[in-house]
Amino acid sequence: MKNETVIEILEEANTEIASASTSERLQELKIKFLAKKSVLMSLMSELGKLPPEERKSFGQMLNETRTKISALIEQKETEIRKQELQKKLEREEIDITLPGRNADVGGQNPFYVVKDEITDIFLNMGFEVADGPEVETDLFNFELLNIPKDHPARDMQDTFYISDNVLLRTHTSPVQAHTMQVAGGKPIRIICPGKTYRRDDDDATHSHQFAQIEGLVIDKNINIGHLKATLELFAKKMFGEKREIRLRPSYFPFTEPSVEVDITCANCDGKGCSMCKGTGYIEILGGGMVHPNVLKMNGYDPEVYSGFAFGIGIERVAILRYGIDDIRKFYQNDVRFLHQYRKKA
Ligand code: DAH
Repeated sequence: MKNETVIEILEEANTEIASASTSERLQELKIKFLAKKSVLMSLMSELGKLPPEERKSFGQMLNETRTKISALIEQKETEIRKQELQKKLEREEIDITLPGRNADVGGQNPFYVVKDEITDIFLNMGFEVADGPEVETDLFNFELLNIPKDHPARDMQDTFYISDNVLLRTHTSPVQAHTMQVAGGKPIRIICPGKTYRRDDDDATHSHQFAQIEGLVIDKNINIGHLKATLELFAKKMFGEKREIRLRPSYFPFTEPSVEVDITCANCDGKGCSMCKGTGYIEILGGGMVHPNVLKMNGYDPEVYSGFAFGIGIERVAILRYGIDDIRKFYQNDVRFLHQYRKKA
């Protein structure tokens, strides 16, 4: 009777384990057939009650059955684990043949492209980069550049005032005075790229904030030929070897003589077109020989030293270089504009 029960248990375990398909189900079967309260185990605990001659063989049978069921469960467990892993791998399969997503590469604002190019050209000529404050004093922005309080040149350079004597600089020229005062009479060869401000109404060609690159060279025996050669080299490097320059007399309070520098129009090669208004030339910057007063006020003896200076509008160069029709585009962050200058990935 008891032997039959054990055989039945084994058979039942066999079928149920064989049809189990999840580890949860298998865990249930483990409890059902092998836990303390299972039929098999309760039979084991009753072994002691049997007469000694039956005890041994029945005990052996129980043990063997338990080992068999354990083995079945273990075998099934490995099988199920394998299947589950397989399913998981299938579920998480990555298609490595799918084309990748392109990283969106940004473009440098053409303003910075041009600023870096101009800077490089002058660094290659042996200039160093100098710096100065954007919030300036009246003294440095005007007085030390030979523009006293009542000077009419101030009219063109109205700006944002912090107080009567502190303002946002209207040009990078105050860096000339700062550099001279720090250099203490020694030769100078610097450029200074930086932001400048004016109280202008914004339109296609005016912006209340713009940028310049100042240049200043001071040494013994510097003459206007040095200025011309330097700017000619700059123009050719920036706008192409075919470009010629021309110096026109002009006026700035801090230079004497002063010049305005034009390059031959790239559109018509100097013949005259609508872009250069028929003149064949396009103005690119202002410059001149440093005024003796400026040298004196900033610690240089004009009898011993002379120098030249120039100021380049960065946006103006970028506008000419890229044919941009509105200065405001540099600041509006319109991605359609910026994307045109995006480097191709
Ligand atoms: N500071 C002048 C301006 O903003 C530009 C300029 C002209 C700078 C002549 C110079 C120079 O250094 O020599 O209009």
